[in-house]
Amino acid sequence: METGIAKAAAQPQSQDLKDPAYLKIRDVVYQISGIYQPEEKLYLLASRCARRMSAVKASTPSEYLDYLTVRGNREAELRLLLNEITIGETYMFRSPAQLEALRNVVLPQILQAKSALGFKRLHLWSAGCSTGEEPYTLAMFLLEEKERLLSGWTFDILATDLNDNSVVAAKAGIYGEYALRSTPDVLRRKYFKAHDANHLQVGEELKSLIRFDRVNLNDDSKMTFLKGMDLIFCCNVLIYFDLSSKRKVMQHFYANLLPGGYLFLGHAESLYQVDDRFHLMHFPGAFGYWKPPLGYIGGGKK
Ligand SMILES: C[S@@+](CC[C@H](N)C(=O)[O-])C[C@H]1O[C@@H](n2cnc3c(N)ncnc32)[C@H](O)[C@@H]1O
Repeated sequence: METGIAKAAAQPQSQDLKDPAYLKIRDVVYQISGIYQPEEKLYLLASRCARRMSAVKASTPSEYLDYLTVRGNREAELRLLLNEITIGETYMFRSPAQLEALRNVVLPQILQAKSALGFKRLHLWSAGCSTGEEPYTLAMFLLEEKERLLSGWTFDILATDLNDNSVVAAKAGIYGEYALRSTPDVLRRKYFKAHDANHLQVGEELKSLIRFDRVNLNDDSKMTFLKGMDLIFCCNVLIYFDLSSKRKVMQHFYANLLPGGYLFLGHAESLYQVDDRFHLMHFPGAFGYWKPPLGYIGGGKK
């Protein structure tokens, strides 16, 4: 599912792109969200501004910049612009190899370490969850393991995104064939109910495991308080960030994870030159970043 593309909006004239106000808008977006638009991609930002410019009736980029920086409702306007900018391409069971790694290596390792300390609850976080396909996939995976690997365990999933519209759609949990194309029939029947001729809706059993919230990964005041995670999935989000925003998010993720926890990124993403405190762990068709337990002295790539 793709969200937030201003397809229907009037395209800015090519000469508008030379308007320095777009660079300033780019910087405002970057400061708030960590999303960096390089100059060669400025046309994308301009096309996404177009819808908001027409909504507020701003006739030039610099007039619109005022809406983002000096007018009384600038925070609300910025939020609306971020809803236009953020792209939520996703679908259920997007990374089967990650789930195999979870089942075969990561969960057994975490469960063993936690049960040795007397804990029987797992906390997962889907950070940048878009319209909810990733956390619902994780919820199905966990429920399918409830009688096996996770027998006697309880679990919860925090699912967050910057985009208000995505969070609303995720809470509703209504999906068509595009989102469900990799979801096995047996799981569709078990965890979804019919919504209309072309859509299924997530059932209560899945919904009850997930708390959805709007969290900006670039917002220190929120990130600081999301502690105690065993697993963080932040897949296909950091591709929009530059190095310094990635580093900042990783500072938080490292603190958000419990010792022994894992961070999963999208298959095209990496922490190379971003953060060397995590240990890169390779699995068949997937990889994860492990936060070693306190006092760990062992091999593994740092
Ligand atoms: C391509 S989607 C990834 C969805 C899902 N994780 C997956 O891999 O299928 C990227 C998501 O990152 C979100 N995002 C971008 N910048 C963000 C930020 N600063 N804070 C939180 N979410 C952000 C976007 O709104 C979008 O929903």
